[in-house]
Amino acid sequence: MTTSRHPDLDPSHSETDAVEFSLRPQKLNEYIGQTKTKAKIDIALDAARKRSEVLEHVLLFGPPGLGKTTLANVLANEMGAHCRVIQAPALEKKGDLAAILTNLEEGDFLFIDEIHRLAPPIEEMLYSAMEDRHLNILIGQGPSAQTLQVDLKPFTLVGATTRAGLISKPLRDRFGMTFRLDFYSVEDLSHILIRNAQLLKLPMDAAACSAIAKRSRGTPRICNRLLRRCRDFAQVKGSGNLTSSLAEDCLSLHEVDERGLDALDRLYLETLVSKFNGGPVGLKTLSSALGEDEGALEDLVEPYLMQVGLLDRTQQGRKATEETYRFLGLR
Ligand code: ADE
Repeated sequence: MTTSRHPDLDPSHSETDAVEFSLRPQKLNEYIGQTKTKAKIDIALDAARKRSEVLEHVLLFGPPGLGKTTLANVLANEMGAHCRVIQAPALEKKGDLAAILTNLEEGDFLFIDEIHRLAPPIEEMLYSAMEDRHLNILIGQGPSAQTLQVDLKPFTLVGATTRAGLISKPLRDRFGMTFRLDFYSVEDLSHILIRNAQLLKLPMDAAACSAIAKRSRGTPRICNRLLRRCRDFAQVKGSGNLTSSLAEDCLSLHEVDERGLDALDRLYLETLVSKFNGGPVGLKTLSSALGEDEGALEDLVEPYLMQVGLLDRTQQGRKATEETYRFLGLR
């Protein structure tokens, strides 16, 4: 498998964790954008609190970086509960999940990221945990084996995935609520930037803010990363204040164009047009031509290219659009 150059596919996000964490909204009214989802969540939270019940299980899907983990933490905070976060591939044995579930306190939240990557036996174990709040644990082997039923305290599972299509029906059916997170508007991203610049004590011009917001591909994780790069730049090349000219210089240093497309996006489109005559071409073929991981292309590159009309995904494969040719200066 090809390794990805994309920082968003590093599940540890170690470079950004500390700063990212400090900027995270804690309450629903601090969470910017996703208005329709927030309205539905607001009612569900209020109802659960009024009935003194735990919140029903929630499935969140959408491209990476749109704030799924952030939203899970907000839900837990709103319910006055703790949120335990795990990556599905880290659950290797049934015992790993059993240990986590039996240690949850009443009302706790368990956030499972990349839930489409759960191993089948572990996924099956979740069914009874989610539905009936118990675990069936097999003790012993052969004819003398016995099933032990372990009761769990009421808890809320929040599952997140970038690939809703890969979630099996039995798992999907056990979530009381499913929400699709959409790309953010430039206006919403500007609000996130203003909030975060204030938290970072970074003076920022309005024009610098909109320059970053426009180039953030509708994604808070990207706008926060660009804000940190611009903050570094302003500190080194200026007096610490983020002016629009410092922001523009920093963004061109990082090869991010006016629409937020970076070197990999451009290479993808150039390859599609020059090597494959604009397609249709399969993902595998494109992935080996680019030397880039299929998952990175599917999760991080393609959704935004489609959103801005630079790519078509058809049954036959990936295809360039009229706009792709104009973008590459070929029409
Ligand atoms: N950081 C990441 N996502 C956010 C959001 N939706 N609102 C505020 N800050 C965020």
